[in-house]
Order: sequence, then C-alpha cells, then structure tokens
Amino acid sequence: MSTKNPRVAVVGATGAVGREMLKVLEQRNFPASEVVPFSSARSAGTKVPYMDNELTVIELKEDSFEGFDIALFSAGGDTSEKFAPLAVKAGCVVIDNSNAWRMDPKIPLVVPEVNPEDLDWHPGIIANPNCSTIQLVVALKPIHDKAKIKRVVVSTYQAVSGSGQKAINELETQVSRLFNGKEVVSDVYPHQIAFNCLPQIDVFLENDYTKEEMKMVNETKKIMGDDSIKLTATTVRVPVFYGHSESVNVETTEKLSAIDCRNLLANFPGITIIDYPEKGHYPMAIDCAGEDDVFVGRIREDDTIDNGLNMWVVADNIRKGAALNTIQIAETLIERGLVRVV
Ligand code: A2P
Repeated sequence: MSTKNPRVAVVGATGAVGREMLKVLEQRNFPASEVVPFSSARSAGTKVPYMDNELTVIELKEDSFEGFDIALFSAGGDTSEKFAPLAVKAGCVVIDNSNAWRMDPKIPLVVPEVNPEDLDWHPGIIANPNCSTIQLVVALKPIHDKAKIKRVVVSTYQAVSGSGQKAINELETQVSRLFNGKEVVSDVYPHQIAFNCLPQIDVFLENDYTKEEMKMVNETKKIMGDDSIKLTATTVRVPVFYGHSESVNVETTEKLSAIDCRNLLANFPGITIIDYPEKGHYPMAIDCAGEDDVFVGRIREDDTIDNGLNMWVVADNIRKGAALNTIQIAETLIERGLVRVV
C-alpha cells in the first residue's frame, strides 16, 4: 500500500480552467502529497500561484506522468487524446475536461451529485462533462427521479470564459476598443462578442445544430443513464465573463407543482435556490461567479402543457462547470476507495 498521498499532475495549468483547478485543490485542502503544473512549451518556466507559493510550470512530455497518481487535464481535446493514454499507462487516473472521451461508451462521464456510481467502472480515464451540461443535469436529476422527465427545451446564455483565457481577453479588448472609438478584431469568435449575442457555440453540424447543442443532448442522456429523455438546445455566447445561465423548460410524466419542485431542488446536494419574485431576487451570473453551487430560480409551472415547469439555472462555468466538478470527481474516487490516501 502507498505510504504517500496521491501526486497530482495538472495539465493545462496556465489556462483559465487549469488555474482554477489549482485554486480549488488548495481551497478544498485536497489530500495531495504534491501538485505539479504542466503546459505546452509556450508557457513552460512561468509561475502559477499555489498555496502560499508559486509553482514553476513544466513542459508536458510523453514521459511526464511517471510517479503521478492522478492527472487532471484541461488542455484541449488533442492534448487529451495524445497524453491521457500515456498517463494511464504510467499508472494515473485521468480526469479529463476535454471533449475527447466523453461519448466513449467505455469511459464514464460523471457529475458526482448525479451518477457517482459510474466511477466504479472507469478504465483509467474519467470524462468531465461540458460546462453547460453539468449545471443542467444537477437541476434535472431530482426532477427526473421524482417525476420522470419526458422532454427538455433549454436555451443557454454562456460566458466567454468557457472558451478559455484568449476569449476573456478578446471580450475585454473589444469593450475597451469600442469605448475608444476603435475598430474591433475577432479572433476567438466568428463575430464581435462585445455588446452582442452569438447563437453559435462550437461548429455547425450536418443537422444545423451546433456541436455544443448536441453535446448537451447526448451528454445529458449518458449522465442520467436514460436515453428516453428528449432534449433540444439552443446555445448562445453572451458578453459575460464568468457564469453560464440557462432557461430550462421541462415536461414530466408525473405532475410536479412549482412548490414541490422548489422543495425537491432545495434538498438536493449542490443546489441553492434563489427564487423570490416578489423581491426581484433570482440567480444572476455576476452573483454566482466564484461560487460552488448550481443556483436555481424563476421556478414556475408551464401552463401550456399538463406537466410542465420553467426554471432559470446559473452556475460558475469555470468552477462547477469545469475545475470544481473535476476535483469533486477526484474526491469521490477517494471516498469510494478507488484512489488511496494515507
Ligand atoms: P500554454 O499556456 O503553454 O498554451 P485555455 O483553455 O485557457 O486557452 O488554456 C489551455 C491550456 O492548455 C494552457 O495551459 C495551455 O498551455 C495548455 N496546452 C495547450 N496545448 C498544450 C499541449 N500540447 N501540451 C500541454 N499543454 C497544452
């Protein structure tokens, strides 16, 4: 038996999610014997903050994973495809934030509040779902367990941080240039994002949906373990830095009143209800940024159908939508005895 707590590699540690991973490991006092940040050659040698120190970022190479127990990846699909199998070969459990493995039937796709039991059959890699899917399934799970969901119609209002640090910089630069009467350049997005809404996230597919929309459809079914849930999505990028918002319409088999739905969600782990229309209180991205929970409000019955509900679901896409969920997966692996701590 190991005499040391797990050594943790953070791959993509200079990115928006990677930096947050380091923060979350620190904030949750994750039992790591050592945390080592990796990036591409571009950022190797730079420093990232961790605990009271700074860690020097190391260039990721094929033999980087020797001696590590857990590898947290957030460096894009290509990096995951190439390096995650090497990490597994070196003895690591990989928790991967990219799209590379999510729909592979051999790889569990996990939100710890929803399907922790799927961790038990992981073959070395565990996939972290898409940010907009994570907050959605946390809100859907208690409703599905109680009243069986038939159909979901979701529209998202997604923050630019979901596209990484470059996109955060692009919104910032565009806003400041527009205020100074200058022309703007769009590199990350196909159109200007400042003061605009783009009904396109990721590329268009043959069915005219975007890849992000189909991720929500397919990942929801996989995480909830129920292919019968019908879901249709419109995903929209909005000029918000942190926090995805979602308008969610749910049709259930059994009747669920708005009051019962509110109580059900309030008692589910990881959900905070903010639903006081009389005071004008509801979840907003600016309040949810930096928070761990999924926030739900505007819960009301949809009286155009027999068993319908509407709600507004907000979460910090970098935390619950990415870094926090990843580290919660690692914590759940420890709880289930799948990773040892001393
Ligand atoms: P680097 O800083 O060297 O480019 P974001 O999603 O915010 O853009 O961050 C992406 C993260 O993934 C960064 O830390 C980036 O490192 C890292 N990354 C990108 N490509 C590679 C690669 N081939 N090997 C290792 N890390 C990579």
